[in-house]
Amino acid sequence: MKFFARLAALLAAFATPSLWAQVNDAYTYANYDQVKIKHVYLDLAVDFDEKSLKGFAELSLNWLSDSVQPIYLDTRDLVIHKVQAQKANGQWRKVSFQLAERDDVLGSKLTVKPGFKAEKLRVYYNSTEKASGLQWLTPQQTAGKKKPFMFSQNQAIHARSWIPIQDTPSVRVTYTARIKTDSDVLAVMSANNTPDTARDGDYFFSMPQAIPPYLIAIGVGDLEFKAMSDITGVYAEKSVLDSAVAEFNDTQAMIDASEKLFGAYRWGRYDLLILPPSFPFGGMENPRLSFITPTVIAGDKSLVNLIAHELAHSWSGNLVTNESWRDLWLNEGFTSYVENRIMEEVFGRDRAVMEQALDAQGLNFEIAELSPGDTQLYIDLAGRDPDDAFSGVPYTKGQLFLIYLEQKFGRQRFDEFILNYFDSHAFESLGTANFVKYLKKELLQKYPGIVSDAEVNEWIYEQGLPAFVPKPSSDAFKNIDTQINQLLSDEITLAQVPTANWTLHEWLHFINNLPLNISLERMASLDKAFNLTHSQNAEIAHAWYLLSLKAGYDKVYSAMSDYLVGIGRRKLIVPLYKVLAESEQGKAWAKKVYLQARPGYHPLAQGTVDAILKD
Ligand code: BES
Ligand code: ZN
Repeated sequence: MKFFARLAALLAAFATPSLWAQVNDAYTYANYDQVKIKHVYLDLAVDFDEKSLKGFAELSLNWLSDSVQPIYLDTRDLVIHKVQAQKANGQWRKVSFQLAERDDVLGSKLTVKPGFKAEKLRVYYNSTEKASGLQWLTPQQTAGKKKPFMFSQNQAIHARSWIPIQDTPSVRVTYTARIKTDSDVLAVMSANNTPDTARDGDYFFSMPQAIPPYLIAIGVGDLEFKAMSDITGVYAEKSVLDSAVAEFNDTQAMIDASEKLFGAYRWGRYDLLILPPSFPFGGMENPRLSFITPTVIAGDKSLVNLIAHELAHSWSGNLVTNESWRDLWLNEGFTSYVENRIMEEVFGRDRAVMEQALDAQGLNFEIAELSPGDTQLYIDLAGRDPDDAFSGVPYTKGQLFLIYLEQKFGRQRFDEFILNYFDSHAFESLGTANFVKYLKKELLQKYPGIVSDAEVNEWIYEQGLPAFVPKPSSDAFKNIDTQINQLLSDEITLAQVPTANWTLHEWLHFINNLPLNISLERMASLDKAFNLTHSQNAEIAHAWYLLSLKAGYDKVYSAMSDYLVGIGRRKLIVPLYKVLAESEQGKAWAKKVYLQARPGYHPLAQGTVDAILKD
């Protein structure tokens, strides 16, 4: 947003007490303190040729204001055809609407003024090829190469690019949908998918639990289903289905572990949708149907903490939701904590602690490069697109804060606190200030003299990490540190490093802790011994390429080119492009690869890499 527009909005907010009392999300145009959408019905046809969703959204409204008010909706790059409003007597009326100029971050405000308190609005529209929240893949870009694929990614503010809606996590809606497609593809949504649905191109969905709009999700493609347990299963293209089921068949055990710790799983089924490799994230916690990158199908379950993570969102995020994107740590920090507790239950303490230690070291590297303002848990987005402020801070600093509380109060008290927190805020959104209030009342004051208000405030509102941050320590990693030192001082040979039984985590710690000035000879001998350049594990390859770039080891370029073209997960590709862009030569090479890679990337990844490689 332009500076003056922000200033004006701020002044307006202070002039209207009801606004600053209740409206906490700066990333929506919606007047959700006056009127709230409570239910959405989507009637959409999927047009692969035009890369467009066409039809209407029917929005059922709940009026909070006594007087008649205009209704403001969020949209981005939508074509609006007409708007109808329904009166209390059931009659529909065509009403005029106004679509404001497009703001780069927020999109276009849609104003509807029916002149009465409409029960429902119907917005007839189509999304366009530009939709930031959709990716349209040609058959050639899929695993099966025969049918096209389309999927949504709404978080943070992309729902508005395919649904005219109050696009804020402070509003919760139930939804139903009728989705028409070609009859040879299957549509799934974050709703009641029934595994035995007839594949006839006419699909109905119902999501009876109220969720924020960023969790409305759709995927359409040549999908098949395979069950893993009574309530869990996988949707994927045929060629990845079996390997995905084998990789993720601990999902039911993860649900059991989480229920035992944090209360009932409240969403009915829990299925996984495996997306094409261009999916820009590792996973997305769309309710009842997590969206998952295929880059975690490693063959040895070494990356399944991602499933624990998306599942954990069924409590933190989907049940209890951050009220604005400044509060993202309430979603991601809690989820990282719960994820790790699930991993400990299912795979044991050693693995869980290794995962903590890897993340903690990653956070330290990241904090060294972030601008200080971005190292606060309660982040200052300063008008940026929330995607542009994305970092490991809400995740790992948030998780370390909760580990700190766990260690101070003891597991029993802390687990009880979290369980009650989820229970007492179920199907609600809340912000950092209200969480802190709850924390002080239900933990700090209940067990006084253990953690001070000042310590909590430092965690949440100060930059960097407090001096009293927990330092996860793994014995296996300590051994590796010793071995690295011995290796570099030639006390031991490479053959004497006991790599045979190393887990993925040990490999990552090893690679991440080799010095950047490591000799090219040593890089070559490591590569020869362990074939790291051609590792099929996406995380190992990533870590090795990053080290190679920094150490000047050129042998990786050809394999790294395939890697960058083959996958579009931002966490894996963006750091590589960033390091490449630091040198003129590297940047020129990256641009060449990107020319080939870009058409296959998701709009979000394209935006990020465009910015890194621009002149
Ligand atoms: N909800 C996030 C993805 C996200 C966050 C999208 C913010 C847009 C804005 C998802 O649950 C997530 O955290 N994914 C991680 C998983 C990892 C931490 C195990 C990812 O994609 O890497
Ligand atoms: Zn998450």
